[in-house]
Amino acid sequence: MFEIKAKDGLGRIGRLQIRNKVVETPTIMPVINPGKLVISPSEMKDKFDTKIIITNSYIIYSSPRLKEKALEHGVHNLLEYGGIVVTDSGSFQLAQYHDVNVTNSEIVQFQNDIDVDVATFLDIPTPPDVTYEKAKNDLNITLERAREARILREGYLNGTVQGSTHLSLRKKSARDIGKIDFEIHPIGAVVPLFLQYRFKDVVDIVLTAKKELSPAKPVHLFGAGHPMAFSLFVLLGCDLFDSAAYVLYARDNRYLTITGTKKLDELAYFPCKCPVCSSHTPKELMAMPSNERIRLLAMHNLHVTYEELACIKQAIHEGSLWDLVEMRVRSHPKLYYAFKEVKKYRDFIRKYDPLVKRSTAFYTGLESKSRPVFHTAKLRAQDRVSPMKTLVHPIIGQFPESLAHTYPFNVEMDKEFEINVPERTMVEEIADYQFGRDIGKRLFKDTTISYSRNDRVRTLISDGVVVATLRARDGLLILGDEGQRRLHNILPSPSYRVIVDDEVAPYIKSHGDVFSKFVKGIDTNLYSGEEVLIVDENDSLLGSGWLLLSPSEIPFFTRGIAVKTRRGTK
Ligand code: GUN
Ligand code: ZN
Repeated sequence: MFEIKAKDGLGRIGRLQIRNKVVETPTIMPVINPGKLVISPSEMKDKFDTKIIITNSYIIYSSPRLKEKALEHGVHNLLEYGGIVVTDSGSFQLAQYHDVNVTNSEIVQFQNDIDVDVATFLDIPTPPDVTYEKAKNDLNITLERAREARILREGYLNGTVQGSTHLSLRKKSARDIGKIDFEIHPIGAVVPLFLQYRFKDVVDIVLTAKKELSPAKPVHLFGAGHPMAFSLFVLLGCDLFDSAAYVLYARDNRYLTITGTKKLDELAYFPCKCPVCSSHTPKELMAMPSNERIRLLAMHNLHVTYEELACIKQAIHEGSLWDLVEMRVRSHPKLYYAFKEVKKYRDFIRKYDPLVKRSTAFYTGLESKSRPVFHTAKLRAQDRVSPMKTLVHPIIGQFPESLAHTYPFNVEMDKEFEINVPERTMVEEIADYQFGRDIGKRLFKDTTISYSRNDRVRTLISDGVVVATLRARDGLLILGDEGQRRLHNILPSPSYRVIVDDEVAPYIKSHGDVFSKFVKGIDTNLYSGEEVLIVDENDSLLGSGWLLLSPSEIPFFTRGIAVKTRRGTK
């Protein structure tokens, strides 16, 4: 039900299917108060293409009028919305008022009865900074309720991670709840941390949970609705957000921007060109009756929220999410310091972060130094290349001169490095970096170099066939059919290979993609984004492709593509 389409950092563009409805992640679920609609879900569908919303089953349950209607006609009819409806359970009311008039089993059963698409059990959102004992007791109750709910609930169910600010309990919570089969994992009780701008604590909580959860399960950051923080938490692997902020802020005459919140009465200009902002001035909005003003402000707030998500998705698509986050975190010092915390998780993130991206890395400031991909590339170069010459890079340190135009060593800074080693040495060292120590000389034996119109190395040719092409965009080698055969002969299995079930061999040969469930083995030294050889169980070459997923995440996926096949062997 959850497949990955593209990745950057721990962030991913996903396809989430719930019953027969589909939503692309990362996305926001606008919070709908069924008692008082400010913008109706059907209007959201029309204006923002909203495919998923979240509402509160406890509010419906507590109102005789709403309850009767929902039980009779279902929650979709109640809200007049055919998209995906997620419901919360009253846990938030539990956190605010310390009591609710419903049991876990009653509210889970009620969510079954009103036909919600994703239900939530009555987890306990333990506040920050309570004692370890208190957090542990709450967590044990939450886990008990999780097991009870899983039995009662036939459809999709949220398995929320709790544990307060005690990371050892967050770890236990994620590990234990991960063993029960939930479809989505929200990370709970972060609202008070967000309200206090304690983003650094949220970074620790999210990454502690991510380390324990299956990468095949979407993660929902519960109660995080300000677009300012979206890019950071998408980078850390959050797929779903919910926003009551769009309307709560509107009621308070507050106007959301990607860099923070403005008070309407302090705005002389609207820094936005959404339909609301392009047809009104701040003064006009201030002068309106409050209901109308709240509605228009809420529209603008939702607009910037969706706009930022589109921007984030594009960044994942092109591999520039780190660049985007480094810019976004500069909008608030608390966000900036939270981002610095990510460094501590470098080796965990390195396992998932693609080593090949569509766009060149940009240096945005000192923090760029800590990007996991630089460390991965540097370790790989040290391990595999015996350079003829080296250069000293201001952020990567000493590295082979041959790689100066190769991702990520070609990071955009104030000057460009020149490559003065012989061209043959350059391509051989790039091949060593990509495929392994001393591979280049053997791979390019008896080849001649051909050049592009601007005199750059373009291809390596042997007997009229292409062994490899040096891709201008990222300075990496792409193997031709002959190059694949050579590499397959040079490297022993499973090096540089994805081994697939014999059953799908004909499909791969005719250029079909490799689905995760047919992967039988893989070279675990590979990274997402790399070119790989595709072989059957007897090591016969079937083709080549690029690795969409990381070797460590493939075993978790029963659906979706692991390798995009570039070519099959005819
Ligand atoms: N809404 C905001 N935080 C939470 C939480 O921790 N649990 C649930 N169920 N709902 C929430
Ligand atoms: Zn606007």
